[in-house]
Amino acid sequence: MPGIILIGTQWGDEGKGKITDILADDMDVVVRYQGGNNAGHTIVNSDHELKLHLIPSGILNEHVIPVIASGVVIDPKTLLEEIDGLEARGIPTDKLKVSSNAHLIMPYHRLLDAATELRLGKTKIGTTKKGVGPAYTDKSARLGIRVQDMLDPSILKKKLDQVTAIKNEILTKVYGLEEVSSEEIFKEYSTYADRLRPFITETSLLINEALDEGKKVLFEGAQGTLLDLDHGTYPFVTSSSPIAGGACVGVGVGPLRIDKVIGIVKAYTTRVGEGPFPTEQINETGQIMKTEGAEIGTTTGRDRRCGWLDIPILKYSVKVSGISSLVMTKLDVLSAFDTIKLCVGYLFEDKEYDYFPPHQTIFHKCEPIYEEMPGWREDIRGVRELSKLPLAAQKYINRVIELSGVPFEIVSVGPKRKETISLARI
Ligand code: GDP
Ligand code: IMO
Ligand code: MG
Repeated sequence: MPGIILIGTQWGDEGKGKITDILADDMDVVVRYQGGNNAGHTIVNSDHELKLHLIPSGILNEHVIPVIASGVVIDPKTLLEEIDGLEARGIPTDKLKVSSNAHLIMPYHRLLDAATELRLGKTKIGTTKKGVGPAYTDKSARLGIRVQDMLDPSILKKKLDQVTAIKNEILTKVYGLEEVSSEEIFKEYSTYADRLRPFITETSLLINEALDEGKKVLFEGAQGTLLDLDHGTYPFVTSSSPIAGGACVGVGVGPLRIDKVIGIVKAYTTRVGEGPFPTEQINETGQIMKTEGAEIGTTTGRDRRCGWLDIPILKYSVKVSGISSLVMTKLDVLSAFDTIKLCVGYLFEDKEYDYFPPHQTIFHKCEPIYEEMPGWREDIRGVRELSKLPLAAQKYINRVIELSGVPFEIVSVGPKRKETISLARI
């Protein structure tokens, strides 16, 4: 099983970091393929609680080669801060590889991200304001600056002069902001180049060679299916492709190199930022989920919106990414409820949909159709075997398997590494 993709099946924050860290034990390489430091992946083990934004969640496993592939947009300042933070905690980062083809997040991307959100007003996306959208926009517009450009001062200078001239027109004339200085950015990014130079390489070749040698490579997704630019709840999405197909594009490997696609599903649903969310609970239920699940955004510190598990979304994710097995996280959080609701479809204008609807208006305005299941009301964080879970919890898991049509390999019952029930060997 050399090529394994791990993705989020909802709106992100499903617990990808925890599960990547666990699976990394058995991996040779862990590679991030899309997104940027909009991601926040948390790992809690006996020694550390880490919040990673760019560095793959395999970093705690010393034998693993962590790779940031060309589909990622890199804010070099954040990357260096993350490297320094890890080193300060005694976690070595010298094996890290960074793609020379990855695009850079520049200061004007962050400014434009915030300014566009402000201009959109009530219709804003609720971005992380890390400059991710504008960086991917420049990539598509062929105005981007890549990691390799930093390594050649004359190219960096030339590209920066060209692009800042355009950006300054937009910043000043459209948004009424100050100009940015090409010279200052050049100086700042030259210092980053000096420090990042040892990590920079051609990562597509590296991953393909690793797969050729039979090594195990885990492709770590950021965000989740419904934040996918093509397949998510557009425009309330991120600007990259978190779905499984994004891994092949973002790394530069053929689809036949992939042996398995693992989908991470939280036992309920959360979302940060704006956009439709049929099962959202703006009430005491949502508050309990938020408190019990500590649902505060890892990257922005914003409260996460909370709601019940949505099966049509899960089935959609399974299809879009060809998910072959699932991992359920945060089942322990549902211990707080007497009754648990499971959304099995939507009602809109007298028509029922048991699938992700074809028009977003339906998704915006529908009423969720719920099945109710009894809760278990007992602490399950100490449980390590499926059969030792309360019967009601086992029934909940089995119902999700039945409705999604996909087996579970892991059920997570707490943030710590050991708070995990393994159902099968991955
Ligand atoms: P990611 O972006 O998908 O990696 O997820 P985040 O790290 O942003 O958010 C998941 C949060 O839930 C983190 O704080 C994790 O430590 C925590 N977490 C992961 N699995 C579990 C679990 O099974 N139970 C509980 N209570 N917390 C968990
Ligand atoms: P991880 O990897 C949850 C959301 C933002 C916003 C939308 C667009 O930790 O699961 P962007 O800054 O990407 O342009 O914002 O996407 N978003 C996330 N939500 N988890 C994430 O990453 C996210 N990354 C972006 O809140 O709604
Ligand atoms: Mg997160």
